[in-house]
Amino acid sequence: MTMHFVDMIENRVSTNAFDPNKDVPADQIRQLVRLATHAPTAYNLQNWRFVAVHSQEARARLRAVANDQSKITDAAVTFIIAGSLPDHADVAPRLRPAVEAGFMPQRMADGWVDAVRQAYEHHPGRQRDEAFRTATFAGATLMFAAQAFGLASCPMGGFDPDGVARAFGLAPTEIPVMLLAVGHAAEGNWPAKPRRPVAEVLSLV
Ligand SMILES: Cc1cc2nc3c(=O)[nH]c(=O)nc-3n(C[C@H](O)[C@H](O)[C@H](O)COP(=O)(O)O)c2cc1C
Repeated sequence: MTMHFVDMIENRVSTNAFDPNKDVPADQIRQLVRLATHAPTAYNLQNWRFVAVHSQEARARLRAVANDQSKITDAAVTFIIAGSLPDHADVAPRLRPAVEAGFMPQRMADGWVDAVRQAYEHHPGRQRDEAFRTATFAGATLMFAAQAFGLASCPMGGFDPDGVARAFGLAPTEIPVMLLAVGHAAEGNWPAKPRRPVAEVLSLV
């Protein structure tokens, strides 16, 4: 099932009540992550990792480090969306498929290795910013992919990042940027919340 994309944007809500009896099967979880990886990343670094917290045990473990939010155990799956700190050593293997496909010149790929080194090597703040940008785009893409499949979602920043990293074995270079609960909506959710007027938020220069 697919919806028109503008309708999807206008109708998306952060779902509060999920039906705890409806699953999202592992194949669909893989499809969602495959679609999320179509999101853009700086230099095509693809510096992300997705932990699909699906089993009852794993969901309880996540809830314990996520402000005891009940949607984590009610929703069929909650994704930990982690952004990795950019590393120039990753650039060549990430670009190789585009070089081998014949549209990216090798010289350009080599240049991007240097560009990534220069941009991030001695800049921990920029590394962290990039990890957040990457995971945010991935999360947004996953959120709309879920909606296209008729599923509900809720992004969550209410969790203990160190606790999540420990409980799910993230590397020190992986930052848990956001949680995204995905499942089937139950009754009683709110409609889309009104937004600030465009004139108040847009500077058209
Ligand atoms: C970065 C971020 C963190 C959020 N954290 C939580 C959260 O921990 N728990 C929750 O129930 N909702 C959370 N939300 C959902 C917001 O409350 C929701 O997006 C906002 O109220 C607007 O509602 P809407 O998404 O339905 O338009 C979060 C949303 C974002 C973008």
